[in-house]
Amino acid sequence: MTVNKNIFFEKKSRHEPIVMVTGYDCVTARMEEDAGVDIVLVGDSVGTNVLGYQSETEVTMQDMIHHCKAVSRGLKNTCLMVDLPYGSSADPFIAFENAQLLQDAGADCVKIEGWGENKRVIEFLTGKGIDVCGHIGYNPQKHGPKAKVFGKDASEASELIKSAQTIEDAGAMMIVIEKVPSEVAALITKKCRIPIIGIGSGFECDGQVLVVNDILGYGVRTFKHARRFMDFRTLALGALGNYCDEVRSRKFPSEENFVHIDPLEMQKLTS
Ligand code: KIV
Repeated sequence: MTVNKNIFFEKKSRHEPIVMVTGYDCVTARMEEDAGVDIVLVGDSVGTNVLGYQSETEVTMQDMIHHCKAVSRGLKNTCLMVDLPYGSSADPFIAFENAQLLQDAGADCVKIEGWGENKRVIEFLTGKGIDVCGHIGYNPQKHGPKAKVFGKDASEASELIKSAQTIEDAGAMMIVIEKVPSEVAALITKKCRIPIIGIGSGFECDGQVLVVNDILGYGVRTFKHARRFMDFRTLALGALGNYCDEVRSRKFPSEENFVHIDPLEMQKLTS
């Protein structure tokens, strides 16, 4: 499916926030679309949130293709963005090959981490007609799984502003900005023509992205940058605990959950 990405520029010009959320499977993606999300991101956070990896650097292209296909089956008209995982965009040609694999798996656009050192890769991909989203600030593939804030001093903040401009000039359609002080993120949002999507970077960005597990409350950990909109873990533990009890006490299954054989057929069977 090809989504008209101009709608994101139009939203920026109308100051209408863009809603992005991660999705890793078909069923959740379908719910995200029904809820009205603008962009579903198959982030490399699939590694730590779904696959049980210790770090984003363990995520492979095969993992991303598998989850991209699953999410793609759940979406009809929502933009599907997919991360190029660790090591998959080392040079423009490798990045192009991998971006094409993700496109074949259903991606509308790809996201690449980097503070502008990946300018040539972004130029090459956009030159070949692939829509690219940059990702600056905290970059898990480079900085490791322990998140930290970037741009707290003027020199690093100015580096971030330059990175955003480099990525925009290279032809990117959007930039995710992660764990950057809100004032710096606001400056970048004002300076760039392309939409800036924040995570842990304040409310003045053109949109927000969160990990779906954090929104729904799948895990025990909470994060300063996120908000739990429900406590799925507690509800799920309750339901699973009830299931365990009812199986063990033979309350489940009950009459409505199974069928009977005709008594005559049963007689033939057992005589
Ligand atoms: O992989 C991911 O989930 C991301 C978001 C945190 C932006 O890149």
